[in-house]
Amino acid sequence: MTRHLLDITDLAPGELRHVLALSTAAPRRLLEGKGVALVFEKPSNRTRHSMEMAVIQMGGHPVYTRGEEIGLDTRETVEDATRIMAGYHSVLAARVFSHSTVERMAACSPVPVVNMLSDRSHPLQALADLVTMKEHVGAPDTLRVAWVGDYNNVARSLAEAVLMLGGSMSFGCPEGYGPGAHEVTRLTALGGSVRDSTDPRAAVDGANVVHTDTWISMGQEAETAARREVFAGYIVDEALMSRAAGGARFMHCMPAHRGEEVSAGVFDGPRSLVIAQGHHRLTAARGALTFLVEAQG
Ligand code: CP
Ligand code: NVA
Repeated sequence: MTRHLLDITDLAPGELRHVLALSTAAPRRLLEGKGVALVFEKPSNRTRHSMEMAVIQMGGHPVYTRGEEIGLDTRETVEDATRIMAGYHSVLAARVFSHSTVERMAACSPVPVVNMLSDRSHPLQALADLVTMKEHVGAPDTLRVAWVGDYNNVARSLAEAVLMLGGSMSFGCPEGYGPGAHEVTRLTALGGSVRDSTDPRAAVDGANVVHTDTWISMGQEAETAARREVFAGYIVDEALMSRAAGGARFMHCMPAHRGEEVSAGVFDGPRSLVIAQGHHRLTAARGALTFLVEAQG
C-alpha cells in the first residue's frame, strides 16, 4: 500500500521516531535517476529550498511548478494532473490552500504524496521542530511545549508530533482561535498531556519550549485587521518568556513578524532556536523522503 505524509498522524508513533532517526542519518542516494514533483499554490522559502536540496542530496531531480501553472481544477482536475505526474516522479509533494487537494491527490496516486503545508497541517515543519527540540531541549517525552497565538496548521502538526512522542502541549490562544474542546479530545487520545487556556501566561508556565507563528496565515489576508486586534495580547516577548521554565527556548517556523507575534528581542535573542529550526527543514525533508521511498519498496 502506498504511504503518504499528509498529517503527522499518518505515521504510527514508532514510525515517527524512525523518521526522526532517518532525518539525522547520512543521506542515502535512494532517488538516483528519479524525479520529485514540488507543486506550490502558495509562496515558500524554507520548504522549497529544503525539499529541492533533500531530493538532490538523495540523487534525485526536483521539478518545481506553481499550482496555477498546472491549473489544478481549472486547466485539468487534481486527479488528472496527479495521475500524470505520478508517471514521471517517485514522490509528489504539494503546498495547497485546501487540505482536500492533497487528500484527493493521495486518493489516486500510486506514488507517495507529501503535504508541504495545507490549511490543516504542516507535517514537514513538525518533523524539523522535533529534530530541533531533540538536539537543543531534550528527549521528546521531557518536552513541555507551549503554543501561543493561533491554533493553525503548524500548531496542529506540532501538537500531534509532541503528544505522539509522550511530551506535553499547553495552548494559550484567544477565544475562538484555540484548538477547541473536540480537538483537545482528539489530541489527548494521541498520548502525553494537553492544557488549553486563553491566557498566554498560564500556557507558558513551566514550559521548556515556547512556540508561536504568524497571526495571519497564507490565505487569511482578508482577516488581517481583525486578527491583529484579536491577537494583540499574544506577543511572545521577554516578559512572557520570563514565566517559562529556566532555560526555556523560543521557536518559530518563520516567516516571522517582529513586533507582532514575537518581539525582536526574543526572536533574535539567545533563547531563540529559529535558525537551527529552519535549517533542520532540510534534515527533516531527507528523513520524510527516505521513509516514504523505502516504504514504497
Ligand atoms: N516554515 C515554512 O514552511 O516556511 P516557508 O513558507 O518559507 O516554506
Ligand atoms: N501558518 C503559516 C505557516 C507558514 C509557514 C501559514 O500557513 O501561512
